Amino acid sequence: MARRENHYVCQACGATAPRWSGKCEACGAWNTIVEEAAPELAPHAAKRGAGKSSRLEFVGLAGATAPAARRVSAIAEFDRVCGGGLVPGSAVLVGGDPGIGKSTLLLQVTAALSAATPVAYISGEEAIDQIRMRAARLGLARADVALASATNLRDVLASLDAAGGPTLAVIDSIQTMYLDTLDSAPGTVAQVRACAGELIRLAKRRGTTILLVGHVTKEGMIAGPRVLEHMVDTVLYFEGERGHQFRILRSVKNRFGPTDEIGVFEMTDAGLVEVPNPSALFLAERRGEVSGAAVFAGMEGTRPVLVEIQALVAPSGFGTPRRAVVGWDSGRLAMILAVLETRCGLVFGSSDVYLNVAGGLRIGEPAADLAVAAALVSSLTDHPAPPASVIFGEIGLSGEVRAVGQADARLKEAAKLGFSRALCPRRRRPQGAQGKGEQGERVGAIDVSEIALLSDLVELFGPPAARNGRRERSDLKMA
Ligand code: TYD
Ligand code: MG
Repeated sequence: MARRENHYVCQACGATAPRWSGKCEACGAWNTIVEEAAPELAPHAAKRGAGKSSRLEFVGLAGATAPAARRVSAIAEFDRVCGGGLVPGSAVLVGGDPGIGKSTLLLQVTAALSAATPVAYISGEEAIDQIRMRAARLGLARADVALASATNLRDVLASLDAAGGPTLAVIDSIQTMYLDTLDSAPGTVAQVRACAGELIRLAKRRGTTILLVGHVTKEGMIAGPRVLEHMVDTVLYFEGERGHQFRILRSVKNRFGPTDEIGVFEMTDAGLVEVPNPSALFLAERRGEVSGAAVFAGMEGTRPVLVEIQALVAPSGFGTPRRAVVGWDSGRLAMILAVLETRCGLVFGSSDVYLNVAGGLRIGEPAADLAVAAALVSSLTDHPAPPASVIFGEIGLSGEVRAVGQADARLKEAAKLGFSRALCPRRRRPQGAQGKGEQGERVGAIDVSEIALLSDLVELFGPPAARNGRRERSDLKMA
């Protein structure tokens, strides 16, 4: 037998290199290159009569069968994120930090589906007793879920492929599975890719829905993430701050539905509980009119979500002031600070700036710019934001406030939660509906103040003299 060469594979992007190095040339990640045995030429053929070939049976385009009904779990938050239920024959990757609640969620989903269809839960991480104890805690001990503890993928495939096998199977987690035809250790890119490939082939062939659990490394990536994300039909991330009880399931890829949809759950003693109205939850601990806080009317997929943005501008004790952000992009914060300094004459240069999205949500929308600016200005001036108001809008580098999508949905959600005012960019109106004096307008129960320039927002927080000491001093110097 010819000697097989080892090669070096980046565990982050799956790129191969002929020799080890500290940095992956393909993705730039450090310390991710691991020596792996090179795969055999045809790993999948090895056990299935290699060398045999048969002709393809070509068919015409016509004659589509009606799409099989989706499997609906009745856990509404989960079903919505999947695009209205799980599609038969699809492979779904559920990624997330260890301990975030992936196993809990999927056990709840399988139990909910077990009444309608045969389901299996295969764990490579926990012993049967551990899973049973969890099921008892969740009140699901009576659900008809076929449970197994296994890591050898051949056994898993054979069981799923058997007559009367399950129509839905959870593999917890893909990093613990291994194929004995590969020399690499479980969890390496080669193993993860080969195992996922086999499972996906089975899913397509039999119409089984496969849910793969994937752990995320500390850099925020599923081991062999790029390869897996390409292979599966749907990628869901389960995220949340460890200290918070809220968990957010987010779809980042979906061949059968919209992406950027979120489902919100609360981790309780009895497992994950759906949160049908996340805005109310995120705003629950808000303390009325305090400085340094602004309510952002955001969109997560098709759904409006209101969250509080908190800022603290404090005198810095160091030469280089600190900028710390939780739940938002720090580059974006630097940009907003620069625009506030350059276009509105505010001074943050010698202050530490802390920004926090309350409740553990992560916001990616640029529409949060205006709310962030409001929280920053409010903290700097020690004036609370206008009462009972929501804020949204994107800020441009010249200090202009730009329109954002789905303004009406945001305003409607704000009205529903008892807000009476909105500070937002000029909204796109249908032609002919434009009139004069559009600065103030009522939309439903909401009094809309349109903000064209960032400086207009700053004006709402009082005259410049009251803003901060540094500003006054610089005025004096000029006189
Ligand atoms: P788990 O589903 O095991 O996480 P993962 O599979 O993503 O690693 O969840 C583990 C955490 O959830 C653990 O810290 C305990 C907590 N938990 C609860 O708070 N309540 C519950 O009912 C359950 C089952 C878990
Ligand atoms: Mg787990």
